[in-house]
Amino acid sequence: MKFPEDFLWGTATAAFQIEMGRGEPDPNSDWYVWVHDEVNIKNGLVSGDLPENGPGFWELYPEDLRRAKDDLGNNAFRMSVDWSRIFPNPTWDVPVKVSFDSSGNICHVEVSDESMHLLEERAYQPSVKKYRDILTECRKLDLTVLLTLYHWPLPLWIHDPITCRDDIVHAGKRGWVDQSTVIEFSKYAAYVAKTFGDLVDIYATMNEPMVVSGAGYLNEKSGFPPGLSNIDLFVEVTKNLAIAHGIAYEQVKEWDRVSCSNYGPAYVGIVHCPQYYEPYNKDSKDDVKAANFVEYVQNEWFLNMITKGDFDLNLNMMIERNEQHPNLAKGCDFIGINYYMRNRVKAAESKTPGFPGFEIVPCTENCTDMGWEIYPQGLRYELNWAYKLYRRPLMVTENGIADAKDEKRSDFLISHLREIHKAIIEDGIPVKGYFHWSLIDNFEWAKGFKMKFGLYRVDYETKKRTPTKAVSIYRQIASGTFD
Ligand code: BGC
Repeated sequence: MKFPEDFLWGTATAAFQIEMGRGEPDPNSDWYVWVHDEVNIKNGLVSGDLPENGPGFWELYPEDLRRAKDDLGNNAFRMSVDWSRIFPNPTWDVPVKVSFDSSGNICHVEVSDESMHLLEERAYQPSVKKYRDILTECRKLDLTVLLTLYHWPLPLWIHDPITCRDDIVHAGKRGWVDQSTVIEFSKYAAYVAKTFGDLVDIYATMNEPMVVSGAGYLNEKSGFPPGLSNIDLFVEVTKNLAIAHGIAYEQVKEWDRVSCSNYGPAYVGIVHCPQYYEPYNKDSKDDVKAANFVEYVQNEWFLNMITKGDFDLNLNMMIERNEQHPNLAKGCDFIGINYYMRNRVKAAESKTPGFPGFEIVPCTENCTDMGWEIYPQGLRYELNWAYKLYRRPLMVTENGIADAKDEKRSDFLISHLREIHKAIIEDGIPVKGYFHWSLIDNFEWAKGFKMKFGLYRVDYETKKRTPTKAVSIYRQIASGTFD
């Protein structure tokens, strides 16, 4: 399994999931409040585990990064910075020039030098310093960083998830439901690019926007904030995220002019999560229709918005005239693919008039601890699919397994990398890197610490890391010595 010379080998992480546990915690985000909320815990929406008991990367990052470099033989690392750490207090009053298109959508935000100075004053300097330390350590170790600007927590001053859960109509801070969040996000993106641009060249504006909108606004049982089921809000939030991607793309390009790698100064993409969908019964027309619809909404819909400006807001799988907004498709230099599973889709009674109803059939064979079906061939399929439709370079930005017993991880890793290898060598797909989810066990959102995705086990009491069997295998594959 020889991969291209300049292939990026890494692991993927997210700030909220690994940072807390040592050093200063961050109580200023919606996710923090959400997982502490007693009603959510009592209703079993969230596990009751708390992020402040996490792996403690905030302090222990030097040893974790050393593991990535020396033990795994990696040359890259995917991490995120949390907006609420950098701006725990509002930036509403930092002036920017906002332009709207004829449909009332934000189409451009201009951050002046003066506004940048104000943002610099507002930013919480201990967090900025810590992130610089972490990024500097990556540079010292020759780990090329892929930095995600938004991997899910929103500052509390932007999103109050409990009030939204209980009464969205009267809530004031409604996160991505409101266009104003796009404006604040663009200030934050500009600030991050300006502040860390000398240490970072590869950016993802956001992680899995379809999970933010789908889990947050279409499935009140998902355990994701704000825990609603409302198709209109789902559409609105997805649209605002798509617009926010474009505006943030422009900000990063504008404010990071310093190159520190062959990718520089700013190579900016999205991290998306196309999964493999299959009709449960291939002979059933209804199952086929349901599977096609889910696949379209989950895999295609958002990418069509950010790459072509096709905003299919009535979800009829056609683009009417008033749904064409090429001015909002600002750019996307690469597409990050997070791939985990195959989903079998069965037609079901529709809960939303006008849309096919569906259910995902629970996994019965080859399942992970999350109940996800292991299906490596689906990764090759998705890479081909994404490239054929969008013609952008790709990176596998997440792929991994919750496997507490450490029985399946090694095979999982090998089989998925074989599929990527085939996609590159046999299909000619430009896949630029692979980031395994994750370096260490971490806080798996609503499910807490029980789900163990790490290449290293974490003992949450002592914070001790212990390698799983896949560590040496990953090292061999990354160094080209694995058969
Ligand atoms: C997310 C990660 C998450 C992983 C496993 C991805 O959807 O980006 O934050 O931990 O899947 O669930």
